[in-house]
Amino acid sequence: MSRQPVVLITGASGEIGHTLIDRLSANPDRPVVTLDLAPLAPAVSGKVRQHYVGSILDQQLLDRILAEFEIDHIYHLAAVLSTRGEFAPMTAHKVNVEGTLMMLEFAQREGESHGRSVMFIYPSSIAAYGISSLDLKNSLGPVGEDSFNTPTTMYGCNKLYGEHLGSYYSKNYRQLSADPVRTRVDFRGLRFPGLISALTTPSGGTSDYAPEMIHAAAQGKPYACFVRPDTRIPFMAMPDAVDAILKLAEAPRERLTRGTYNISAFSPTADEIRQEVLRAFPKAEITTQVDAKRQGIVDSWPAEADDSAARHDWGHAPKFGFEAAFREYLIPTIRRRYSA
Ligand code: SER
Repeated sequence: MSRQPVVLITGASGEIGHTLIDRLSANPDRPVVTLDLAPLAPAVSGKVRQHYVGSILDQQLLDRILAEFEIDHIYHLAAVLSTRGEFAPMTAHKVNVEGTLMMLEFAQREGESHGRSVMFIYPSSIAAYGISSLDLKNSLGPVGEDSFNTPTTMYGCNKLYGEHLGSYYSKNYRQLSADPVRTRVDFRGLRFPGLISALTTPSGGTSDYAPEMIHAAAQGKPYACFVRPDTRIPFMAMPDAVDAILKLAEAPRERLTRGTYNISAFSPTADEIRQEVLRAFPKAEITTQVDAKRQGIVDSWPAEADDSAARHDWGHAPKFGFEAAFREYLIPTIRRRYSA
């Protein structure tokens, strides 16, 4: 019996997974198989061929998936984010590093079994950066991928290492083996800014103040923002983030000059976000209650990311700038969501 070619999404019940399933399931030729600790949301569960409830660390489960399906693309979204990771660093390391290693090994074995490359899409993060002071951060222009790679969080360390692991698997895997081993992993990483979705709210990140502020306002709930009003980091609207994933996956391999690419769209301050939310919801109660520790993490991330390599190599071009993201996507979609 031949196995069926599919794409696999890990961490599929998370924020990116929700929109990615929607987009990928539009292609009937390549069914979607998903894996997550949690069941899928009802809005997307009907769109996948099969959902496995379980852990990326469960080798038996991975073996079962390998036996049942022929996987050409892996979107490895499962991760413990930056704030949650500081409360449980060992767990974060297990999921973010060991889990990624297991999935890369899974991709290599899968590629060996069907004789083709397995594309491995890996969301890294702005958390891979660590800038040592706010003065230094404020003095920098857009920061390229290879500077300030000194993360301060467990999640950031894990993501940066995941980028290197992926490049290792795609270029140098078992390089000293007596029988040459053909690398079967086509690794492609994206370093995401903070993401804002109208459909879901994040859990456990440190850029969460932006989506939390908007979703709270739309529900008529007060919100205390945990960073200073002048705090600035890059953000992107979820549809553009998923577009970027799909664009990078479609890019011809020979066009790619890097293993992992910065992508970015706009860099508002927390106060600019607040103003934009107030424009839509004038009665919103948004105050500031700085959490010094989370503030420290956000202050170590660049104010702007240089994504010129992504724009040049595979045509990264986000549709939404700051105002358009709010006025054309976030606000109308969130309004509909909470009034339904
Ligand atoms: N949004 C993520 C976080 O805050 C960054 O990748 O952890």
